[in-house]
Amino acid sequence: MEKRAYIETYGCQMNVNDTEVIFAILARAGYARTEVMEEAQLILANTCSIRDNAEQRIWGRLEVFDQQRKARPGTLVGIVGCMAERLKDKLLDTHKVDLVVGPDAYRSLPRLLEAVTPDRPQMDVLLSREETYADITPVRTDRNGISAFISIMRGCNNVCSYCVVPYTRGAERSRDAHSIVREACDVYARGYKEVTLLGQNVDSYLWKSQDESVNFARLLEMVAAIAPDLRVRFATSHPKDISDEVIYTMAAHPNICRHIHLPVQSGSTRLLEKMRRKYSREWYLERVTKIRSVMPDCGLTTDVIAGFCSETPEDHADTLSLMEEVGFDWAFMFAYSDRPGTLANRTMVDDVPAPEKNRRLNEIIALQNRKSLERYRAQIGKTVEVLVEGPSKRDPAMLCGRASNNMMCVFPAAGRKAGSYAQVTVVDCTSATLICE
Ligand code: 5AD
Ligand code: SF4
Repeated sequence: MEKRAYIETYGCQMNVNDTEVIFAILARAGYARTEVMEEAQLILANTCSIRDNAEQRIWGRLEVFDQQRKARPGTLVGIVGCMAERLKDKLLDTHKVDLVVGPDAYRSLPRLLEAVTPDRPQMDVLLSREETYADITPVRTDRNGISAFISIMRGCNNVCSYCVVPYTRGAERSRDAHSIVREACDVYARGYKEVTLLGQNVDSYLWKSQDESVNFARLLEMVAAIAPDLRVRFATSHPKDISDEVIYTMAAHPNICRHIHLPVQSGSTRLLEKMRRKYSREWYLERVTKIRSVMPDCGLTTDVIAGFCSETPEDHADTLSLMEEVGFDWAFMFAYSDRPGTLANRTMVDDVPAPEKNRRLNEIIALQNRKSLERYRAQIGKTVEVLVEGPSKRDPAMLCGRASNNMMCVFPAAGRKAGSYAQVTVVDCTSATLICE
């Protein structure tokens, strides 16, 4: 009987990509993919440590996995990804898991699976300076067959004081540019119409061989050159590193989508310093001005943290005023979560009380909702090109797809197929969807 593996994925899109890499590696060890946990011989959680509530959710799931393990002897359970890297052998001590594997150790899975027995759990949490899984063709788990994600780098060299990622994903390394272009060509040949290049900080992408050096702007060009009807997206940009060269490269290629995810985190220069973001409020605003002067129609989204260590009401007001001034299309907004081992955890006090953090977060969310609605309303009357992704979730008689600026559009099907481009006119909106004809 063929063995089956079931993987639940938590956290970022990079983790979703890693799960595809893991399925490819597991295939070599004789495991086929299943989406039914009850029929799997191997159950993995690909985990996230970014905030405490992410980890709490996963602890809950591990209880459920453990029941499977008890009900069906021989079933293996493993924790992989960021939580595996953060907690290491503590996971073996405290929980009934057979495997603990960090983000740079997925190639060891077949070896670990050979060695594992019920009383001999296996662990590999070594971080690497080289591993990029460049040669592994991911088993694509994304449903739509239209939009593919490609990891271009791993790890992170920034030391934002709140963030656990440098500890869980190790040092930054860029993947071979030609292997990225090959993967993009491959998905295009298989009918995909959009690739999103992924990295913690894409602007510091730099791949060198003996006679070549490829930075992010050059990589964007190389991928954009594959085909004019292949859309190129990327995430995440870092305000300190996004260069004029990248901005002009976007502007020069109509198939590079007009959208930048540019996490600001805070609008207070004092707090940005404590966060070790290495830019000021003014620097951030200048980058936004530059982007909009070169590409007036560029979509901008961001991440914001409420209630970081020592945040005063004035710092919080600075965040609100920056959000007011920029007018982001959309934002991911979080209450600060103290993460063990980070610089903030070791050297600062998590001193904004939880109710106050939530109050500030709610203010931030309310402001952003108002801004989103404004930004979406400003699109009414415009004609935009969308890449048709498939039926709309709300109303299957309608189709959905994104405009270049990343805004989700819904529009009448009118015989159009997923994977085609359509010109639609915006007639109405909510704060997260453009309604088009
Ligand atoms: N607490 C709250 N939010 C965090 N983020 C990263 N670390 C933390 C933390 N400790 C947020 C940042 C980042 C996004 C991916 O998650 O806004 O950009
Ligand atoms: Fe992704 Fe960060 Fe969560 Fe790791 S900790 S899965 S890198 S969001």
